[in-house]
Amino acid sequence: MKRKIIIDCDPGQDDAIALLLAFAASDALDLLGITCVAGNVGLPLTLRNALKLRELVGRHDVPVFAGCPRPILQRLETAEHVHGETGLDGVDLPEPSFGADRRHAVDFLIKTCRSAGLNGLTLCPVGPMTNIATALVMAPDIGANIAEIAFMGGAALGPGNITPAAEFNVFVDPHAARIVLESGVRTTMFGLDVTHKALATPARRAAIDALDTPSGRAASQILAYYDRTDVDKYGDAGAPLHDPCVIAYLLAPELFDGRDCHTAVSTEDGPALGRTVVDWWGRSEALPNCRVITEIDANGFFDLLTERLGQV
Ligand code: RIB
Ligand code: CA
Repeated sequence: MKRKIIIDCDPGQDDAIALLLAFAASDALDLLGITCVAGNVGLPLTLRNALKLRELVGRHDVPVFAGCPRPILQRLETAEHVHGETGLDGVDLPEPSFGADRRHAVDFLIKTCRSAGLNGLTLCPVGPMTNIATALVMAPDIGANIAEIAFMGGAALGPGNITPAAEFNVFVDPHAARIVLESGVRTTMFGLDVTHKALATPARRAAIDALDTPSGRAASQILAYYDRTDVDKYGDAGAPLHDPCVIAYLLAPELFDGRDCHTAVSTEDGPALGRTVVDWWGRSEALPNCRVITEIDANGFFDLLTERLGQV
């Protein structure tokens, strides 16, 4: 039985690899749609990048939707310094021959969740969670039909990457992240604790560079471009592949491990804005509301990614 999913994203270099992995896993994932949100770059560009990635693999069966052009309350902060002015600099992608669906992403999310049946689908936000939160506020009834919200965002035990406290996706829209985590829907968090263990080292990049498929060639270009900021910033052996962790988890959950914790989001102005406050040691009385993933079999992750990118 294929798992029905919707990917909500802000492509974005690592979002792009997450989408390519999902496109290559059509035997296991029924990708009902791609919803775009403002984040790494503005919405017109995240939408255009999603359409170009779909064009690359010829999956016009997957509808693409434009969502919210700004966070619920915060002023939009983007990350061209990481992803380039287009949000996907350094990657040769075809012009879209097919446009976005005319419906708003939030309307698509609500309609699709309502028709999915009990625990009928999984939402996979890998950007600011503005679209997901707006859908949950507009239609709280959809929560029962969402089996899981597996999201890239936050940091449980380590520092932030956009401020000392906050990870980018949650920082851009902390109120959306709070709405999602307080919604009562089962959530699984792939924060910086685990994504910074999924490093595209030279050996792992070499295996992807050797691929001779459209997805493999695109991923190779992405990793060549993406490497330059994170390696310089963190001094790591390679760039962290944040968003693909969510899709790999759907395909091979055994590659990941974590702990059920109560997780809150700081939405107060100040140095902690956007911090995911994870009760790792169970110090509060609050019940766990999120599975916080902190461990990954990184070699297994890259083996899966490389194998799948070699197929499409
Ligand atoms: O902090 C990493 C996250 O922010 C990733 O989703 C990346 O695409 C950016 O959106
Ligand atoms: Ca992203």
